[in-house]
Amino acid sequence: MLRTHTCGELNAKQINAEVALCGWVSARRDHGKIIFVDLRDRYGITQIVFAPGSAAYEKAKELGGEYVILICGKVNPRPKGTQNPKLPTGEIEVLAEQLSILNTCASLPFEIKEEASASSDIRLKYRYLDMRRKKVFENLSLRGKIYRLMRNFLGNEGFIEVETPLLTKSTPEGARDFLVPSRLLPGQFYALPQSPQLFKQILMVGGFDRYFQIARCFRDEDLRADRQPEFTQLDLEMAFVDPEDIFDLIERLMQQVFQEIFKLRLALPFARIKFEEAIERYQTDKPDLRKEKSAKEFSFAWITDFPLFKYDAQEKRWASEHHPFTAPANQDLALSGSYQQHKALAYDLVLNGAEIGSGSIRIHQLGLQEKIFQIIGISPQEAEARFGFFLRALRYGAPPHGGFALGLDRLTSILAGEETIREVIAFPKTQSGFCLLTESPSAVGGQQLEELGIELKKIKEEVQDA
Ligand code: AMO
Repeated sequence: MLRTHTCGELNAKQINAEVALCGWVSARRDHGKIIFVDLRDRYGITQIVFAPGSAAYEKAKELGGEYVILICGKVNPRPKGTQNPKLPTGEIEVLAEQLSILNTCASLPFEIKEEASASSDIRLKYRYLDMRRKKVFENLSLRGKIYRLMRNFLGNEGFIEVETPLLTKSTPEGARDFLVPSRLLPGQFYALPQSPQLFKQILMVGGFDRYFQIARCFRDEDLRADRQPEFTQLDLEMAFVDPEDIFDLIERLMQQVFQEIFKLRLALPFARIKFEEAIERYQTDKPDLRKEKSAKEFSFAWITDFPLFKYDAQEKRWASEHHPFTAPANQDLALSGSYQQHKALAYDLVLNGAEIGSGSIRIHQLGLQEKIFQIIGISPQEAEARFGFFLRALRYGAPPHGGFALGLDRLTSILAGEETIREVIAFPKTQSGFCLLTESPSAVGGQQLEELGIELKKIKEEVQDA
């Protein structure tokens, strides 16, 4: 290690110690006879003093904002009256004996301070500078902490973490797919998964019994403050369960997360509200119960008994309210008419008026799955082409199963007190799905297209002609 301590570590206990610190020059104050530098790293800030007469002092005159430096020196108490009780390192300063400039820094597009001072676009373009702000660092570390807690909790509950493919086939979650052309099979496309839905069901057929994954999902849909084209779910599935088993697991998981992060004990069980009742009482299926109980932290509710189908007036046909793998509450009813009355074994988890997760008990019998496809207008030929692999799996002893997916971006943004999920994603995209850091999506070369057997329409000329 180049350093003996971090910039957040030193206090009165280390007075007189010889130390080496590395970090970024957060501020430089030249008081003529003496130069002060606030040296910053992710752990904190330490005041460095450069006194005249030393080689370090001469070099310190060259320092600019965000230069990366290594200093060696001695820990001294700060003179009386200059201590800073707000800083954990505020009782001491380090008198620099040696200074090495490890790197310089170009002139900054915005000042790096606690409150964001630049527009969201500039912050995203220079995300690595934005990340040096405490709040961004805290949000991303909170996210990492939540992941760690969830992995531990589910591991202890007997869940197995399994990765499912990213280059796959379309699964219907109601959005458009992002497609990836195949070079080896020209004219054929993979779809990036909208969720691992069918793979997790297939894992249950494979006898896995309890699966989870911190899964990246891709949906080409119009973006909002709580939507990104790629986002992350805590995705899980269990065999031989009913909805109450899943509610119990997720409630205990949430209790653990809130206990560890806020030292707050959530009262269990969460409220359970039927879809119809939610619409009647709150005019929404995402009620914010904090409005009811003025004192409460956070308000969770399960919304249950969703309709199984909705009528698509444009296409003049019935469609699934959630996805077509959701089990009906009453199997006999599902096989008869009057589709608007059918309820699903589906549930959403709502936190402070936001849908943070969704799940259902699934159909595990081939006949019922085929019947649902027929009701929503998917012909046997289309079902075979799109889901043949899955229907085949249902033939081979699929156990009853159900599961849940928690939107980790949404959950983290609520826990971090942020208005948009962008604030808890390291490299988010803009409202139009653009990555300002890497400037993607971007054009690709003719040869790459040629290899993929793709010919582009002349979009610009067409727009101009129109
Ligand atoms: P669903 O489509 O409801 O269910 O997604 C589950 C949760 O994922 C989050 N989410 C999003 N977060 C950010 N950006 C998006 N574009 C986005 N879309 C969804 C939400 C949502 O509640 N396969 C089913 C789950 C299951 O049945 O087990 C599914 O994906 O918080």
